[in-house]
Amino acid sequence: MTQGKFITLEGIDGAGKSTQLAWIIELLQRAGLQTVVTREPGGTLLGEQLRALLLDKSIAMHAETEALLMFAARREHLDKVILPSLAQGQWVISDRFTDASFAYQGGGRGLDSEKLAILEHWTQGTLQPDLTLYFDVPVDVGQQRVSQIKVSDRFEQEQTDFFQRVRAAYLTRAKQFPDRIKQIDSSQSLSEVKIAVEQVLQHLLHDE
Ligand code: TMP
Repeated sequence: MTQGKFITLEGIDGAGKSTQLAWIIELLQRAGLQTVVTREPGGTLLGEQLRALLLDKSIAMHAETEALLMFAARREHLDKVILPSLAQGQWVISDRFTDASFAYQGGGRGLDSEKLAILEHWTQGTLQPDLTLYFDVPVDVGQQRVSQIKVSDRFEQEQTDFFQRVRAAYLTRAKQFPDRIKQIDSSQSLSEVKIAVEQVLQHLLHDE
C-alpha cells in the first residue's frame, strides 16, 4: 500500500490556520484522498491531557519542562496516530508539529535550538512532514484575532515581544527549509489565502 502524506500547519496564535484547515480537508477529499485530522499538543488520550496541562495558565512550568512535555505528547502522537495512519495510506493533517517547538520554545522561550534538535531526533528520527504550510501574519493582527475569540490560554496571554520572537523563529525556519515549508501571507483576505493554499497543495497532489 502507498504511504500517505504528512501535512502540518503552523503560525502564531491568531494566524488563521484553523480556518484554513476545513478548506485543506475539502481539497484533499475532492482529490479522493482519505484524511486524518489531528493536532499538537494533543491527538491522543495522553496527548490531550498533556495539552490541558500545557495550556492551563494557572500552572507555571520551567521552559525545559514545557519543551519536554511537548515532545512527550509528540512521541505518543507519532506512535498512536501519525505513523499508523500514514502506513495505511491516509493523509495526515496536523494542526502544528515540531516547527512549533522551535518557534515557541526556541524563539519564544529562548531555549537552545541544539537541545530541541536532540529531542526532535530522539522523538521522530529522520521523519519530517512532506509539506508544512506556515501562515504568516504580523503579531498585532494575530493578537487582535485571538482577543476577539476567547479567553486566552497560557501561551496566548504572552506579550507582543514573545510573539515577535515566535514569528521570527518561524520565518527563519521557513528560510532554512524552503522545500518543505511554504509560507502563506495570512494577512490577505480569506479568499486570497484559500487560493494560495490551493496552489501549494496542487504541487503536492501533482507529485503523486
Ligand atoms: P493551538 O492554539 O494552535 O491549538 O496550539 C496550542 C498552543 O501550544 C499554541 O499557543 C502553540 C503552543 N505550542 C508550543 O508552544 N509548542 C509546540 O511544540 C506545540 C505543538 C504547540
